[in-house]
Amino acid sequence: MSETAPVVAVQTHGLTRYYGSLAALSGLDLTVHKGDLFGFIGSNGAGKTTTLRILATFLAPSAGSATILGHDVVKDADAVRRIIGYMPDFFGVYKDMEVTEYLDFFAACYRIPSAQRERTVNDVLELVGLSEKRGVLIGALSRGMQQRLGLARVLIHDPQVLLLDEPASGLDPRARIEVMEILRELRRLGKTIIISSHILSELETICNRVAIIEKGKLIYTGPVQGVRDQMAPGRVVWVRVGSDQQQAAALLKAHPEVAEVAVLDHQLKVTLVNHEVDHSIVAEVLVRGGAKLLEMREDELGLEEVFLRVTKGETQ
Ligand SMILES: Nc1ncnc2c1ncn2[C@@H]1O[C@H](COP(=O)(O)OP(=O)(O)O)[C@@H](O)[C@H]1O
Ligand SMILES: [Mg+2]
Repeated sequence: MSETAPVVAVQTHGLTRYYGSLAALSGLDLTVHKGDLFGFIGSNGAGKTTTLRILATFLAPSAGSATILGHDVVKDADAVRRIIGYMPDFFGVYKDMEVTEYLDFFAACYRIPSAQRERTVNDVLELVGLSEKRGVLIGALSRGMQQRLGLARVLIHDPQVLLLDEPASGLDPRARIEVMEILRELRRLGKTIIISSHILSELETICNRVAIIEKGKLIYTGPVQGVRDQMAPGRVVWVRVGSDQQQAAALLKAHPEVAEVAVLDHQLKVTLVNHEVDHSIVAEVLVRGGAKLLEMREDELGLEEVFLRVTKGETQ
């Protein structure tokens, strides 16, 4: 059985944006495939909103280009707008409107015929789990529900590509999980989704691919699983010895596969040169050198820690 080649949904080439002399985005090359749930990650000010606004045709790039399903976001902006659903980081809520009124209004903006509108509104409400709230004033909805209503709004014209700017930010854990569940469902329905966040761990369980940007530049793009391998330094092993700590540290430091040993209060933090080194060498070295090994545990470097290190420029 031959695998079908992935279809490119979103592509940017050398995408660049200046605000005055500030390069908010510098030469960004991104490829998102059809059907991807793509995590776009970077700390505050990294350039996520700038990128998404350009893709959504609301902001012109200073240089470079971007296409969505083959349509250029500058030259072919109208076509792009028809196939995308863009949820900005902040969007006004019409507190005094009822849920269905609000969605009906946007359905009309997209020129969905009135005979079809009720059905469309019902469908998107069901998708985001707000069917019970149709007659409720928006101002009376919880923050999480308002965010889901925002999602319903961008789904009104059944767009193929969704651009969601930090849709889960500021939500409590439960509301966040609800949003993520909706995104999973949308992916099952065949949508291509780009979702931004400043928290890598928020996206690692739902996204199949990610891009990490920092100061307007791409640091990593690829599968989520690759982040740690590509960017983390060697694996870390924590050790407690019942003999002299300095002596144990010296034994370990002498080993070529040990990169670093830090002597802390009651334990040693041993960093091995890379992830391939078997951590049992630590025990071997200590026992052979006559140290008394009390405890040893491996530190699985959390993805979030990797991300924080990378975005603080602690790795190359
Ligand atoms: N309208 C603007 N005028 C000037 N600078 C801006 C403007 N919008 C964003 N910036 C700057 O561009 C950089 C990227 O911002 P942004 O794209 O909002 O990042 P993110 O969404 O990742 O937090 C930041 O340094 C920000 O201060
Ligand atoms: Mg932003």
